[in-house]
Amino acid sequence: MFSQTVVALIAVLPFAAQVMAADCARSYTIQEGDICDSISAAQNVSTYQLAAVNTDKIDATCSNLNPGDTLCLGYPGEDCTTTYVVQPDDSCDAVQAAHGMNSTILLANNPQLDEACSNLYIGEVLCVAPTVQAPAAPSGAVLHGASIPATATAAAVEAAPTDDIDDEDLPWCEDL
Ligand SMILES: *[C@@H]1O[C@H](CO)[C@@H](O)[C@H](O)[C@H]1NC(C)=O
Ligand SMILES: *[C@@H]1O[C@H](CO)[C@@H](O)[C@H](O)[C@H]1NC(C)=O
Repeated sequence: MFSQTVVALIAVLPFAAQVMAADCARSYTIQEGDICDSISAAQNVSTYQLAAVNTDKIDATCSNLNPGDTLCLGYPGEDCTTTYVVQPDDSCDAVQAAHGMNSTILLANNPQLDEACSNLYIGEVLCVAPTVQAPAAPSGAVLHGASIPATATAAAVEAAPTDDIDDEDLPWCEDL
């Protein structure tokens, strides 16, 4: 009974390993000191994509990386390798303009961003491809990419409300 189970496992394991390798366009072995966004930045994989293809391995806060473990970086045909690391004072508009695409494409490739782009943070790695290349979000999964790291600093410095503009400075007010 026991030996039958062992034989069955041995027979299945190499096959399972092959299937996983075939499903992964590229992979990465976790090093000591890695954090999710450092892996993303170094390997040209977006914050979102790294989380989306490793929901079985990376928890919501990316606090469970084990050196020596292997992560998948992208699936064949759904692998965005055109990436950009968010810098201080970046906005989605600026990123879109710099990479020649619009908010529809940016949000499709980086679905962790909210519509107003208020959750962009410094060090976040975005897919900036001009077409939709990122994998669809796994249903029900908690993505690291959806939660801003505790140490992150918001990138967007929104324009201050224009309360301080005196009405008399506005040309159309003179006609009222
Ligand atoms: C990441 O992209 C940059 C810019 O295209 C390139 O120089 C670098 O070799 C890439 N790194 C990897 C690991 O693919
Ligand atoms: C954004 O760009 C894509 C690809 O060029 C285009 O199909 C789409 O209509 C654009 N969306 C908007 C809102 O302009």
